[in-house]
Amino acid sequence: MILLLAYLAYAMILLIALSRRGVICSVPIPVEAAPAVSRILIVGATGGTGRALVAQALDRDFNVTALVRNPARLDIVHPRLTVIRGDVMDAAVVNVAVRGQDAVVCVLGHKRFFYPTRILSEGTRNLLRAMEANGVRRLVCQTSLGIGSSAGRMGVYYTLFVVPVILPFYFWDKTRQERLISASRTEWVVVRPAALSNGAPLGTCRHGGEVGGFVLTPGVARADVARFMLDQLSGNDHLGSAVGVSS
Ligand SMILES: NC(=O)c1ccc[n+]([C@@H]2O[C@H](COP(=O)([O-])OP(=O)(O)OC[C@H]3O[C@@H](n4cnc5c(N)ncnc54)[C@H](OP(=O)(O)O)[C@@H]3O)[C@@H](O)[C@H]2O)c1
Repeated sequence: MILLLAYLAYAMILLIALSRRGVICSVPIPVEAAPAVSRILIVGATGGTGRALVAQALDRDFNVTALVRNPARLDIVHPRLTVIRGDVMDAAVVNVAVRGQDAVVCVLGHKRFFYPTRILSEGTRNLLRAMEANGVRRLVCQTSLGIGSSAGRMGVYYTLFVVPVILPFYFWDKTRQERLISASRTEWVVVRPAALSNGAPLGTCRHGGEVGGFVLTPGVARADVARFMLDQLSGNDHLGSAVGVSS
């Protein structure tokens, strides 16, 4: 009984801590006009959301550069797709990949759940530095529902089990990632999806601050998240904010 109460107290403290971190509300980003975006860098292109992004971006006539650790994992060949081999933790290769782009889309993720890591935050720091150095303005980055103002909105299963047991370090690094982005001088949009699936896209999704729920776990297809993220490259509706997305 004492152990159960201690565990629940830990889960609640983590929930409160996550709710106080993440994106910091900052001054509105001055934007004269929606940028003309044709060349984009996708980081995390071999992942689930990343592959959907690459495929949809090519369909939408973007010139796509993919920064990948293992090109063999990206089974898409296209005349408008350039693949750069490299690790996001390598600032030099990130700088090469960012140079000449109009925008960056980041869907980094990893499976090193059970010990502290800074892959998401340090990788994003490298991206932000390279963007600043090369005058690249727009960043659209995927984090997760459950961070900052959306804490608890992945439902009770995530709040009481998945986040405190499996993902505490991972989510904490996501809060650092969001903070870095919101403190940057880029035109940024943070996209916080619900539980991801590889299901068929609906072609639309719910989005905003009220997405998700405190009881049931909301879901969304990666393909729908990818479409929403690509829409943020030229739209200004969600600039400087973290947007929840679910089906
Ligand atoms: N799963 C969910 O239900 C869920 C819900 C909400 C949010 N999210 C978040 O959404 C994001 C994307 O999720 P996903 O499932 O679509 O992605 P994913 O399949 O986990 O793919 C992650 C991508 O990041 C790349 N990556 C990892 N470390 C890297 C490094 N050091 N340098 C360069 N690339 C690196 C991976 O490359 P490799 O192929 O080389 O490993 C892969 O392409 C993640 O941050 C995840 O936490 C997930």
